[in-house]
Amino acid sequence: MKTIHILNGPNLNLLGRRQPDIYGHETLADVETACEKLAHSLGLSIVFRQSNHEGELVDWIHTAREEAVGIVMNPAAYTHTSVAILDALNAFEGPVMEVHISNVHKRESFRHHSYVSLRADGVIAGCGTEGYLLALRRLATLVAD
Ligand code: DQA
Repeated sequence: MKTIHILNGPNLNLLGRRQPDIYGHETLADVETACEKLAHSLGLSIVFRQSNHEGELVDWIHTAREEAVGIVMNPAAYTHTSVAILDALNAFEGPVMEVHISNVHKRESFRHHSYVSLRADGVIAGCGTEGYLLALRRLATLVAD
């Protein structure tokens, strides 16, 4: 079975409790459950991870090189700062979907630039946690035989 790695950056462990007016009331565990369910119906398996540490996210992208056919990533604040995550994604051969729960373009100007978008095959922002499901569907199309 093809495996998709879903990687989440800093502070997303607080999803549901952190600024719910912006990020909603669903927890990251709820998002993982919804992704598991959809992936199963698409004939895919997922690995779902979250870290507050840039280097750990870089290591997990390296792991994805060996184990995953595609990556869904919400790099959170590292989106706007991390050349290291961009470089790691550039070393990954499969498709990459970038997800943001909020519409970053409607927010502060420092959120308008994304290093990850220089690599991503698609970007979903402002669709709430449903964005993860939209990204998974798109990856299912991109990795289909
Ligand atoms: C985010 C948007 C980022 O600007 C922010 O730093 C996050 C979450 C989102 O999902 O909307 O932590 O990636």
